[in-house]
Amino acid sequence: MEQTATKVSVTELEDFCHAALRKCGVEEAGARLSANVLVTTDAFGVFTHGTKLLRGYVRRLQAGGIRADAVPRVEREGPAWAILDGQSGLGMVTSVLAMNKAIEKAKTAGVGYAGARNSCHFGAAGYYALMAARADMIGLAMANDYPSMAVLGARKAVLGTNPFAYAVPAGREPPIFLDIASSTVAGGKVRIAQMHRETVPDTWMVDTNGVPTTNPFLYPHAAFLLPFAGHKGYGLAMMIEHLAGILTGTGAMYDLVNWVDHDPSLATHHGGAFLAFNVAAITSLDAFKDRVDQLIRDIHETPKADGVDRLYVPGEMEWDRHRRAVAQGIDLPEDVVASLRELAELLDIAAPWLGKG
Ligand SMILES: NC(=O)c1ccc[n+]([C@@H]2O[C@H](COP(=O)([O-])OP(=O)(O)OC[C@H]3O[C@@H](n4cnc5c(N)ncnc54)[C@H](O)[C@@H]3O)[C@@H](O)[C@H]2O)c1
Repeated sequence: MEQTATKVSVTELEDFCHAALRKCGVEEAGARLSANVLVTTDAFGVFTHGTKLLRGYVRRLQAGGIRADAVPRVEREGPAWAILDGQSGLGMVTSVLAMNKAIEKAKTAGVGYAGARNSCHFGAAGYYALMAARADMIGLAMANDYPSMAVLGARKAVLGTNPFAYAVPAGREPPIFLDIASSTVAGGKVRIAQMHRETVPDTWMVDTNGVPTTNPFLYPHAAFLLPFAGHKGYGLAMMIEHLAGILTGTGAMYDLVNWVDHDPSLATHHGGAFLAFNVAAITSLDAFKDRVDQLIRDIHETPKADGVDRLYVPGEMEWDRHRRAVAQGIDLPEDVVASLRELAELLDIAAPWLGKG
């Protein structure tokens, strides 16, 4: 799936996303913050869930399914938990608020949980987990989504590809972080196969008979992603429905609205769950970070199989890409460029790097 790339600096790309959201009526701080979430995700090289999503968010902002004027609010809270209502605003804004609330709770209670209801699609989970790591806490972030994933033996989508991320602060090393869908791959990867008119591996999806298919064009109406590692990804996706959907009161599975394909004037009712563990409240922060660094070194120094020159810890590939992106700019793949170009035309935003003055 080779794609040609267009280079853009992190700042230019953030300014573009910020301008697009401002033109849709999103207030300054929310536009800036959402731009940062999406561009950071691109800088990590996760192009399926970065700025490419902005086109779809703008469609919903313009139709009212995402409310530009939403002011998310804390609905209920206890010493170590809170439930926020996103008021159908941007998922990134609600999710950042929720993770900040979890961190705030963990500062006093040691651990914090913040659930978000009436949110929208939040992009990549990793950004939010990393917020906790930056505050020297272990972070967990997850969200439910409209069903596009079958469970074992099913011939219909039952659960979302519910994403999950954790992040752990280290000392000299950047935080460890894992950011994954609970499906074999994120649905965005099937959409890229559609764009390139390529088949997908037969381990990714089943059709309406519950039989493996390699045809990406059947997705999402007649082919459904499979959970990763069978019952393990299935079980993880269920946990996320409970923590992000049912516990927050937003609903689960078909209670949600498909943010890509359904009427953009409808609120999507996504749920999110954000947890923070305050390391310093539980143990010595310095000793913890030293041990995480040691663990990373131990993994790096583990004997490698023939032909393998490097062992990675989760998140390490993303940090490598992030460093390059900040220093040299982001190489945006052509599908992302096409979607941003469409936005530049639609909202009349100057972007010389897209060839639009
Ligand atoms: N908002 C939503 O509804 C939604 C739904 C699904 C997925 N997503 C997002 O899609 C993105 C992609 O998900 P995915 O499941 O396709 O991810 P993926 O399968 O590409 O896995 C990426 C993760 O695996 C780690 N990793 C990869 N190779 C590794 C190796 N050799 N050693 C150690 N770690 C390694 C990476 O560091 C990263 O944390 C995520 O950002 C996820 O949050 C969002």
